[in-house]
Amino acid sequence: MSRKTRGARKAHTSVFSALKPTRGQGVKIKPKRARVIGVFSCKGGVGKTTTVANLSMCLTQSMGDNILAVDANLTSPNLGLHFGEFTPKVTIHDALADELPIEKAVMKSHGLQAILGSITYVGDVYLVDLRGRLAPLKSKYKVILIDSAPGVGSETIAAIKACDEIIIVTNPHIPTIASTLKTLRTAERYKVPIVGVIVNKARKNPFDLSIKDVKKLLGWPIISAVPEDPKVYESTAVGIPVVSYAPQSSAAKEFKKLGEFLIKRLRKG
Ligand SMILES: Nc1ncnc2c1ncn2[C@@H]1O[C@H](COP(=O)(O)OP(=O)(O)OP(=O)(O)O)[C@@H](O)[C@H]1O
Ligand SMILES: [Mg+2]
Repeated sequence: MSRKTRGARKAHTSVFSALKPTRGQGVKIKPKRARVIGVFSCKGGVGKTTTVANLSMCLTQSMGDNILAVDANLTSPNLGLHFGEFTPKVTIHDALADELPIEKAVMKSHGLQAILGSITYVGDVYLVDLRGRLAPLKSKYKVILIDSAPGVGSETIAAIKACDEIIIVTNPHIPTIASTLKTLRTAERYKVPIVGVIVNKARKNPFDLSIKDVKKLLGWPIISAVPEDPKVYESTAVGIPVVSYAPQSSAAKEFKKLGEFLIKRLRKG
C-alpha cells in the first residue's frame, strides 16, 4: 500500500469513527407509518360503522392520538352520528373537494381523532384516489381505521384499495352470508389481505347460522362474535360508542377483546 493510499485510508477511518454513534447516543428514529385497516361488508346495516366507532375508541384508549378514524362512506356517511356529531365543521367532503388540506379535516370527538363525512351531502360521488388522498396522514398516525359504504361500487373499491388490510363484518343470516362472500371475493380480486371476519348481531336463534357454520361457509377465520345487544342500539341513539356508554355490556366486552386482538397483532407487526 502506497503512502498516499495509507493516508487516505486513515482519513476515512477517522471520519467514519466520528460518525459512529457512541453508546447511548445511537438514537433510532423510526418514522410513523400508519397501517390502514378498513371495515367492509357488501350488505348494509350489518355493523361496519358500529365496529369502526368502537374499535377506534378501544385503540385510542390504548394508543392515544396515534389512531385516526375515517368515514369513507361518501354517499351516506354516518360515522359522526355514532359520536353525536351531526354537523361536523370540517369533513372528508371538504378535503375531497380541495377546499382544505386533508390534515385540516381531522377533528377530535370523544377523545378520538376522526375525519367525518357531511351527513347532509347530496352531491354526486366521483371516483377518488383515497389511497393518495390519505397518504399525507400516514406519517402522523399508527393506525387509520376506515369505515366504508355497503355494496361493491366505486367508492367501496376506492376504500378497499386504500387499505393495507381489511376486516369483513357479517351477520349470521343466510342472505348476509351470500353478500359477504361477494365482499371476500372483491378483496381477493384487489389482493388486499383479510384479517378475518366479525360475526356481528349474533343471537341464540335457531334460524341463525352458528359461528361454526359461518366459518365453514366463508372459509375465513372468525376473529370476533359480537352478540346482538340492545345496549348497542341505545348507544348509537345516544351518540356514544357502546365501549364507553355501557362498558360492562356483552357487546362492549367483545369489542374490547377485538381491540386487544388488533393491538397484539399490530405489536407483532
Ligand atoms: N351488536 C349489535 N347489537 C345490536 N345492535 C347493533 C349491533 N351492531 C350494530 N347494531 C345496530 O345496527 C344498526 C346498523 O349498524 P351500522 O350503522 O353500524 O351498520 P353499517 O353496516 O355501518 O350500515 P351501512 O351499511 O348502512 O353503513 C345501528 O342502529 C346499530 O346500533
Ligand atoms: Mg355504516
